[in-house]
Amino acid sequence: MEKIKVEICVGTTCFVLGASALQDIEMFLPEELKDKVEITGANCLGLCKNSHFGDAPFVRINESIIVSQATIDSVINEIKKLVK
Ligand code: FES
Repeated sequence: MEKIKVEICVGTTCFVLGASALQDIEMFLPEELKDKVEITGANCLGLCKNSHFGDAPFVRINESIIVSQATIDSVINEIKKLVK
């Protein structure tokens, strides 16, 4: 099975609004997900512009699913949905 690609935006807005904490997500992944997920950092995904900066931090999964106001829990929940 191809790995689920998780990109944590580490652009300035997202970083300041919490993406720095998201970088620890690997430590919180349940054991059964650890080898199914590839986590990388991404430059500004372009989602924080205009009035959307309040929705940061953003995480993109498999290049299509956007998690806004991302937390470690919400990102892990999205990953679980894909694994089912
Ligand atoms: S800094 Fe994250 S989308 Fe712009």
